[in-house]
Amino acid sequence: MLNLSVLAAIGGPEISLAVHIATAFAVTGAVFFQWWVLHPTLEGRDESEDLKEALRLRWRMVLKVAIVLLLLTGFYQMWAIGLPKGKVDPSYHMWFGIKFIAALGVIFIASALAGQSKALAGMRAKGGTWLAVAAILALIILWLSQALARMGAA
Ligand code: HEM
Repeated sequence: MLNLSVLAAIGGPEISLAVHIATAFAVTGAVFFQWWVLHPTLEGRDESEDLKEALRLRWRMVLKVAIVLLLLTGFYQMWAIGLPKGKVDPSYHMWFGIKFIAALGVIFIASALAGQSKALAGMRAKGGTWLAVAAILALIILWLSQALARMGAA
């Protein structure tokens, strides 16, 4: 089993944070690109159904990798950086909880829009609205993350 203390000693938190930030900005950028460019361009064009499905398939694969990276690095950071900060300032946990729920919201919306589930077809039919919700949530998450980063170090 991977020893987390060894990982911390060899610069794990810095590497993890870099991967987390790169992935977070890639996902946020992709959500904005879909909202502002892709969705309005392709919406209502019957001839683009094949292209839309191909784009969804490709994005689905990228999104899965991004979600795994965000969760792995996020939980690792919580262990390595967040828990010590939470001991100094207990409100850290509350703000982290809000950020985590908002992040789950973005992950859910992005997955629903990229997926094929019939139960979520209604969300895909209102793709523009849901992309706007995901983009705004992502901005709130970035702001919360900055606030968490500034909170009391141990
Ligand atoms: C859309 C999803 C997410 C975005 C956009 C995002 C964004 C960010 C950014 C930009 C930072 C760096 C803040 C800084 O150092 O200036 C950060 C830090 C962090 N993130 Fe995320 N994140 C997301 C999801 C998650 C998830 C799912 C978790 C937990 C499983 C998580 C846990 C953390 C933790 C613990 C930190 C360190 C905060 C600190 O410095 O005290 N993040 N996140």
